[in-house]
Amino acid sequence: IRVPVPENEPVYNYAPGSPERAGLKQALEEMAAQKIEIPLLIGGREVRTGRMGKVVMPHDHGHQLAEYHQAGPEEVKQAIAAALQAREGWQRMRWEERAAIFLKAADLLATKYRYQINAGSMLSTSKNAFQAEIDAACELIDFLRFNVYYAQQIYEEQPMINARGLWNMVQHRPLEGFVFAVTPFNFTAIAGNLPTAPVIMGNVAVWKPASSCVYTPWLFMKILQEAGLPDGVINFVPGRGADVGDVCLADENLAGIHFTGSTAVFQSMWRKVGENIANYKSYPRIVGETGGKDFVFAHASADVDGLVTALVRGAFEYQGQKCSAASRAYIPASLWPEVERRLKEEIDRIKMGDVRDFRNLVNAVIDRSAFDTITRYIDLAKDSADAAIIAGGGYDDSKGYFIEPTVILAAKPDFTTMVEEIFGPVLTIYVYPDAEYEQTLELCDRTSPYALTGAIFSQQRTATSLALAKLENAAGNFYINDKPTGAVVGQQPFGGGRASGTNDKAGSILNLIRWVSPRTIKETF
Ligand code: ALA
Repeated sequence: IRVPVPENEPVYNYAPGSPERAGLKQALEEMAAQKIEIPLLIGGREVRTGRMGKVVMPHDHGHQLAEYHQAGPEEVKQAIAAALQAREGWQRMRWEERAAIFLKAADLLATKYRYQINAGSMLSTSKNAFQAEIDAACELIDFLRFNVYYAQQIYEEQPMINARGLWNMVQHRPLEGFVFAVTPFNFTAIAGNLPTAPVIMGNVAVWKPASSCVYTPWLFMKILQEAGLPDGVINFVPGRGADVGDVCLADENLAGIHFTGSTAVFQSMWRKVGENIANYKSYPRIVGETGGKDFVFAHASADVDGLVTALVRGAFEYQGQKCSAASRAYIPASLWPEVERRLKEEIDRIKMGDVRDFRNLVNAVIDRSAFDTITRYIDLAKDSADAAIIAGGGYDDSKGYFIEPTVILAAKPDFTTMVEEIFGPVLTIYVYPDAEYEQTLELCDRTSPYALTGAIFSQQRTATSLALAKLENAAGNFYINDKPTGAVVGQQPFGGGRASGTNDKAGSILNLIRWVSPRTIKETF
């Protein structure tokens, strides 16, 4: 089999009156009207523990969509055993046959289950239709198809030199053990990619989805089963972080961690790996993508239209709950009056509310804990002499966890909301003197420990080049004249450095290569 270069899955626009809109609306109605029960999946067997967690709609938190069984230490041990048992058969399967399962899953997502996975993402994580479509449908489909393509490139690569009388080979074997996939609430695509990327390379996995995003991972798990994934290759164990994590991280067969989530959790997992390091059969591969304090930096030559669009979309789409979201901006004083006016106008036009009203650009934040954290930062700005709220600032959790798109103007470049990750619809702006462009770039570089995404807006090539140089290590994904969100698989491999992660670029060969443990064989004749 030769896998052709995949094309990105086309994005549906769900225009009013379109059959796509009707299909999605119907799925939304059906899903909202039922309450499902989500079991664990261990060795292909549905397991019910009776220790229940709830899935509610963030925009209508009195409405429960599902309840899910939570794994305890005993079930996690069973999941690891099931994974190890499945390993032999899975790694011996020809890679082309393994690949067919993921290509089939991508097709099922693109056709039969597209509306369901999008409706599930909209209702359970409060994404609007567009945000759900680019994530739960398109990006997840792209991850599956492109990873198969990259896998082929890895398997085909062999030593160039074979002197007479000998034959060199590299076998791209999977890791010896299981991979622990720990997935976030904010992207179903990332949740689906973290267990499947290692598994495409012949590994087996134990998958712990975020407690605030169990619904769409479960739908995807069922799709993988329908596509033919053998029992035990991925074992689905929602549960408390400590229950699931402690057992997996202490197991001698832990061979890898594929993580997206908070910096604090990633660091605590890494510490546990350190404590257990002498007990593992092999050194676990640790691949993680964590937080960000992503910037938009404008030079005085910036195109204001593009800049304002990037600020609004970058900061407020999906309520700012993207690790890539624009959360601090540096604007030259000469542009500020126009940028401020245009920004306020754009924000005034934004509608906020339930995902089922397709006019709402902004919906609810994920849960009570996120609501409390984000509103604390807004209150801090309200109470500070060093900051002013120039747009939004309101919030209301009576029905759903709603927070208005909020812009804070900071008098100092190191004001708390310029530095700390907030993970919500809050953008902080610092206005700098035009003559201090270079110094402000340097300041941007050292203000935050993170280095995930960032953007420069400039129509002057020398200014752009200076930003590229001064911010060389400040963002793993750097955008010139575009918002810092919305990386596309196959186009912009995604990931950051510093406190933002190990920069093993999701959706690229660089990521898949982490999931193999090659054996080099030299045979002489
Ligand atoms: N990959 C996601 C983005 O680029 C996080 O926005």
